[in-house]
Amino acid sequence: MKKKEYGSRVSYFHKHLVHESRLMKKISKDLELSKKNIQVAPYEGQILSTLVTLKKPQVSLEIGTLYGYSACWILNALDRKAKLTTVEFDTDNYLKAKKYLSEHDKNLQVETLNSSGLKVLENWSKDKRIDFLFLDADKGNYLNYLNLALPFLSKGALVVADNSFLFGHVLQDSRPISYSKNTWSSMRELNEILSGKTGLFKGMALPTFQGMTIGVKL
Ligand SMILES: C[S@@+](CC[C@H](N)C(=O)[O-])C[C@H]1O[C@@H](n2cnc3c(N)ncnc32)[C@H](O)[C@@H]1O
Repeated sequence: MKKKEYGSRVSYFHKHLVHESRLMKKISKDLELSKKNIQVAPYEGQILSTLVTLKKPQVSLEIGTLYGYSACWILNALDRKAKLTTVEFDTDNYLKAKKYLSEHDKNLQVETLNSSGLKVLENWSKDKRIDFLFLDADKGNYLNYLNLALPFLSKGALVVADNSFLFGHVLQDSRPISYSKNTWSSMRELNEILSGKTGLFKGMALPTFQGMTIGVKL
């Protein structure tokens, strides 16, 4: 599909099928002004929300909060007793997210941490199962996040990895010069694991523009 055709599909989604809240629009505006608009696209947010609605997780973990835009999409779909932990490494982003998420009507259900994704998973409480894991941070660590989370994933847990096409680079059969071998090969490995290669998961890469791979823990 040509990029222009893809663009008109996305415009249609955004105009007619996507329901952003006022808070989401406010966060997007701030991200645009800060020139940090690397959050999920609204239609990807709505996919996230739909997946959460289907899964009904009690415990969710997001790695890569930015200002809390995708966290809002997840929170909107959570049941009243469910919890979301979201992790942001950068302190300025964390402070913005903390402020915005305090305005969400489900603010008591979200814990925002200023830490690295690796640290949070390394110290994850042994008896706390993760039902929904959303990876949207440093691409070279996605496979490490998955491996660290593995002992805590409940049966049927849903893992969602955004930007899993690595800006188109995973489609190439040899490593592009612009990426480290680890980032390129580990993202390919992650896509294969989540889609079923090892028998631990069943899933598929959703063909969003940047790729969003989902896998259900068997
Ligand atoms: C693509 S943005 C996340 C966008 C957000 N999920 C959204 O859609 O609204 C990636 C974020 O991950 C954060 N990040 C990068 N490396 C990280 C790490 N090791 N641990 C936690 N956060 C990290 C970055 O600071 C950045 O804010």
